[in-house]
Amino acid sequence: MQHLHLFLPCAAGVESYLADEASRITHLPASQVHAHRAGVSLEATWRDVMALNLQSRLAQRVLVRLAVDRYRDEHDIYHLAHGVAWEIWFTPRQTIKVELTSQHSPLKSLNFAALRIKDAICDRLRDKRGERPSVDTTRPDVRVFAHLTQDEATLYIDTSGEPLFKRGWRVDKGDAPLKETLAAAMLAATGWTGWDDHHEPVPLYDPCCGSGTVPIEAALMALNVAPGKHRRFGFEKLLPFQPHVWQALRQQAESAERPWPAGQPFVFASDVAFRMVDFARRNAERAGVAHAIEFRGGDALQRMPPASRPGVLLLNPPYGERIAAAGLAGQSAQVRVRPAQGRESAVHPDGQENTAFFAELATHWKKHYPGWTAWLLTPDLKLPGKMRFKESRRVPLWNGPIECRLFRFDLLPLRQRSDDGADAT
Ligand SMILES: C[S@@+](CC[C@H](N)C(=O)[O-])C[C@H]1O[C@@H](n2cnc3c(N)ncnc32)[C@H](O)[C@@H]1O
Repeated sequence: MQHLHLFLPCAAGVESYLADEASRITHLPASQVHAHRAGVSLEATWRDVMALNLQSRLAQRVLVRLAVDRYRDEHDIYHLAHGVAWEIWFTPRQTIKVELTSQHSPLKSLNFAALRIKDAICDRLRDKRGERPSVDTTRPDVRVFAHLTQDEATLYIDTSGEPLFKRGWRVDKGDAPLKETLAAAMLAATGWTGWDDHHEPVPLYDPCCGSGTVPIEAALMALNVAPGKHRRFGFEKLLPFQPHVWQALRQQAESAERPWPAGQPFVFASDVAFRMVDFARRNAERAGVAHAIEFRGGDALQRMPPASRPGVLLLNPPYGERIAAAGLAGQSAQVRVRPAQGRESAVHPDGQENTAFFAELATHWKKHYPGWTAWLLTPDLKLPGKMRFKESRRVPLWNGPIECRLFRFDLLPLRQRSDDGADAT
């Protein structure tokens, strides 16, 4: 199976990072990996499909394109789907699900279009194999994806199964966990790899770690642990699957893991809610990186730098009323709200609770974190103003449907501040 047309969907804003990553995993030159809106396309082999599923930290799925053509109505879509050799991918004994997305499609009912694709697949398998597969919308063996534009229909077979952000280690979720793929995109944007040019570890600290997504993703990355190590994939149920090739790929990935410098955590995580710290620790254990992360409880407004060497602060801080700042900033708020999940949070009647938190966080960091670089993901475009910081970078990223910015603030070393007579941030 040479030259499969692959499409790897990703969150908007992540395309260029994913294109770099896909080129690294497949060893294809960058010129052969194409970034589109919300995805990347490339021509690659079946082995690459497995490698991308196992190794990609940024893709949502790995889809193989099986047909593309212009269409006017559901009839054309049925014919397009009927022309695909589904019988080389799966048998009628396997269950299927068709998922359809569209952009400016003139069709009245997308459900009906999806139904026609399902009918075409079933009819084709009955003609070729004498039986029709059944549909299972919750745990299908095989997922087919269709995308309709105004006049073009594309059909894909999915090779991932569960979306790739599900790494297989998360059981404890917390209130507003980031998707693992978004945490990986944040890390990609910072350029942090865990190591400097002299192969010395560079500290990374998330002081509002919640369920631990950022530190766990960071530790997996620094140790070169394949993000798909702990999960199964859709391709394992498809007919072209070759278990021996897959086993070899997994073994290769395991032998490329980087040993941890004993007794030297350089990924750090804390949260004001001890319950969340417990969640995060348990998640890290299941991900196999608990030994590499130092977890603590505590208020971000009080926590001192966890490492002697300046590093990177990376977090999605509390926002809005649902995930309001707790701890010191919460106590100073005027109205207490019902504790959510055993954690105290608070809002001012004017909704300004987080303003106080961010002003205090900025003061704390300026005083105690000279030389660190802070990266904050937030939907609040006014965050730099609230911190009285000037960002040195702003990277647009989407947290599901929420448009966010990843702001970078450089906390100047003390020496530089006194030389300049002012904070640069
Ligand atoms: C948006 S959530 C972070 C979610 C996390 N990235 C994840 O993937 O699970 C914000 C976190 O900040 C924590 N938090 C709120 N106020 C805090 C404070 N003053 N100090 C430290 N953590 C705080 C909350 O307990 C919550 O877990």
